[in-house]
Amino acid sequence: MRVGVITASDKGYAGEREDLSGKKIVSTMEENGYEIAKAIILPDDRQMLADEMISMSDAGIHLILTTGGTGFSPRDVTPEATKMVIEREAAGIPMAILSYSLTITDRAMLSRATAGIRGETLIVNLPGSPKAVQEALEYILPALKHGLDILLGRDGECARA
Ligand code: MTE
Repeated sequence: MRVGVITASDKGYAGEREDLSGKKIVSTMEENGYEIAKAIILPDDRQMLADEMISMSDAGIHLILTTGGTGFSPRDVTPEATKMVIEREAAGIPMAILSYSLTITDRAMLSRATAGIRGETLIVNLPGSPKAVQEALEYILPALKHGLDILLGRDGECARA
């Protein structure tokens, strides 16, 4: 499973801040057996973020994880870029991240993250700190793997109760 990582950060793109959350995604995903096909830092620019998501998706990357740009700052537009690109929303994923994250910090409510599917690519927004990335990924990864198997026709069906 090839993964694309997009860090949305004006300061990271300008070289003024180290991209610790992108690095956290890369290390966590590699530890879980995923291959990182591409990791890129972009400014908080709606069109640039959307174009990169499309290009990764067209290149056969089946999972795109973004970090940053989900909050309330006027420059935070990662969810809007994602919504430009996705064809089908996967609302349960940000809901799951939010419900777990609220047990850790009430500030989790300040993330406007979204998730959805473009063709055979799942795009998931994560907040922009290594701590938030760690907390979100540890919770969603097992179910995410099952979802990707279904998206790619690699699995039968969900076990029915
Ligand atoms: N979610 C988790 N699990 N842990 C966190 O520390 N930080 C919150 C929230 N989500 C946080 C979290 C904070 S403080 C903000 S402002 C929002 O994510 C948005 O972050 P972003 O703009 O960097 O994406």
